[in-house]
Amino acid sequence: MKTITLIPGDGIGPEITNSVVKIIEKSGLKLVWDIQTAGIDAVKIEGEPLPQKVIDSIKKNKVALKAPVTTPIGKGFRSINVALRKELDLYANLRPCKNLPNVKTKFDNVDIVVARENTEDLYAGIERQIDKDTAESIKIITRSASTRIAEFAFNYAVKNGRKEVCAVSKANICKLSDGLFLESVRDVAKNYPDIEYKEILVDNLCMQLVQNPSQFDVLVLPNLYGDIVSDLCAGLIGGLGVAQGANIGNDCAVFEAVHGSAPDIAGQDKANPTALLLCAIEMLKYIGENSYAQKIENALLKSLDGSILTADLGGNAKCSEFTEEILKNLR
Ligand code: NAI
Repeated sequence: MKTITLIPGDGIGPEITNSVVKIIEKSGLKLVWDIQTAGIDAVKIEGEPLPQKVIDSIKKNKVALKAPVTTPIGKGFRSINVALRKELDLYANLRPCKNLPNVKTKFDNVDIVVARENTEDLYAGIERQIDKDTAESIKIITRSASTRIAEFAFNYAVKNGRKEVCAVSKANICKLSDGLFLESVRDVAKNYPDIEYKEILVDNLCMQLVQNPSQFDVLVLPNLYGDIVSDLCAGLIGGLGVAQGANIGNDCAVFEAVHGSAPDIAGQDKANPTALLLCAIEMLKYIGENSYAQKIENALLKSLDGSILTADLGGNAKCSEFTEEILKNLR
């Protein structure tokens, strides 16, 4: 039986985790959950937000489902999410963005997958204050990191029946750094003759995305553009409550919703479990449990098409009531 590391997180994390675990169990799929504590609760129990045993558990099990954890602003511990990405070399941030029934958005037929490089670019954290009026931030782009995110994007396209990969850059201005990114993606594209390859500048992409998003399929981007564009795409399909994500490396993968711990509604049974459930569905596909993934997705889509919806989707159902609806629709 496959063991998955489960991090229930804090805030609304435990509520939505409970919902997702119930749904997977009812689907008939047998998984073993290795439950680990991270974040504020781990500080209280273990004295640190990301105990080594959490990292060891993910390294051993290879796959984790993670609910949101609160990150103190300004002071306190560093983001657990950033630390996990570094520790486990989770170099690909994957964000599938697809319209869902009953989630009102400006466009129908959005079905975009964003593959964002997760380790370098301006996020390498190489900054210095040159003098009191000047600061410098260094953008690092390497052939190896660009090649592996490109291979990830093309492999994802092949595995998931996608038709096209589009590389996003600002290579007209950042000729060396983004130029190297593009050159690396082009080299990889040659090995995938069945997938159409395109390129676009990031500013043009943003305009096209808010005018005609259905023209895009898989996007591959360096870290900074990927961060911004993936949130734009999440907005296209209805925002935080329905946006899923995953951080994937060669050895391990951590599946987590895009939204945070929502302290304003925590403990009130109001949260929408959809984003974390979509992450779990993607996780099941990742571990090869496609039929269970499909079964759960069908039940979720049917439930979203009904009238028992959480407040963020315009309804007045509780998290537990929406969960019950999904459980009813599982067959
Ligand atoms: P947030 O995403 O927690 O909340 C923003 C708004 O969206 C709130 O009004 C909240 O009620 C609503 N919302 C979020 N998820 C929802 C859901 N599933 N159902 C219904 N409504 C939902 O963002 P915020 O307030 O900026 O961050 C709160 C905490 O979460 C911070 O400490 C932040 O650092 C942390 N965070 C953690 C993440 C993670 O662990 N992956 C990701 C993003 C933020």
